[in-house]
Amino acid sequence: MQKINVLIDCDPGHDDVMAILLALANRDKLNILGVSTVAGNQTLDKVTLNVRKLYTYLGIKTPIAVGMERPIIRELKTGDFVHGESGLDGFEFPEPTVEADSTNAIIFMREKLLSCHEKSVLIATGPLTNVGLLLRTFPEVKDKIEYISLMGGSIFKGNVTPFAEYNIYADPEAAHIVFNSGIPIVMSGLDVTHKAYITNEDILELERIDGKVTRMCAKLLKFFTKFHTNEGYKNFPLHDVCAVMYVLNKDIFEGQNLLVDIDTSDTMHRGRTAADLREWVIHENTNTLALLDVDREKFIHDLFAAFIKLDKELI
Ligand code: BDR
Ligand code: CA
Repeated sequence: MQKINVLIDCDPGHDDVMAILLALANRDKLNILGVSTVAGNQTLDKVTLNVRKLYTYLGIKTPIAVGMERPIIRELKTGDFVHGESGLDGFEFPEPTVEADSTNAIIFMREKLLSCHEKSVLIATGPLTNVGLLLRTFPEVKDKIEYISLMGGSIFKGNVTPFAEYNIYADPEAAHIVFNSGIPIVMSGLDVTHKAYITNEDILELERIDGKVTRMCAKLLKFFTKFHTNEGYKNFPLHDVCAVMYVLNKDIFEGQNLLVDIDTSDTMHRGRTAADLREWVIHENTNTLALLDVDREKFIHDLFAAFIKLDKELI
């Protein structure tokens, strides 16, 4: 079977790391062209350091490219209240020896996309700054992207505001470029990511397995659950994992084709992924497959299988 070319643009971030691990464990199906970083959950230097630390700990690597240090227009508002001071608190990583490439992420993504004969899938799990600038600067890459699988947005309710999800709220202008690019979007918004949750029992199971990767994940997830528990959550959404899982296993998801646009106003609707839900209006060209449901059992099964596979590979 032909491997799927993927680029992963991210801001690690606990759930970003889980998403990267899922991709790394499935390199028999995915040709990972590289991982690029963008400011979001933490500052650009910290999220880049997190990828370098992760790769150093794992002893595996893909190319790493460093992207934008702030949203296109807005001030950066990090997610340190969720992901901690480092952006990836909860596990002691070794000093990083793996280096990032010197090519800027936007140029890097262009080169990778144009160098592939087949189209690629662009996976985005942070604010869309790099992706928006890529599409605006080098529109020739559009023909080389099959679809963009992104974590962001929400049809029904937000997390940072009543209406907006963090990744879209952080850089709504970039999201506006991406959603209006003409490239098909698969949106793992909060509607589905809150159904792709992990429980405390699941985390204890990872702890019991106690391999190189399962142990690290258990520790990271224990930190990640602190914020959510304080906020009143009983279970913990693994948001970014959905964007990779969809590429590997579409059948476990359900969604709806919708016309979605981004609110770039400075009102209480900033960053909203506004969808036309009127059943009687037929849109010729919808731009987004909004994922709305997932088979959680299968989701966790496949994710844990990936972690355990890496445990075995990395002994
Ligand atoms: C998104 O924001 C970040 O905290 C997570 O990594 C995820 O990408 C969820 O709103
Ligand atoms: Ca993220």
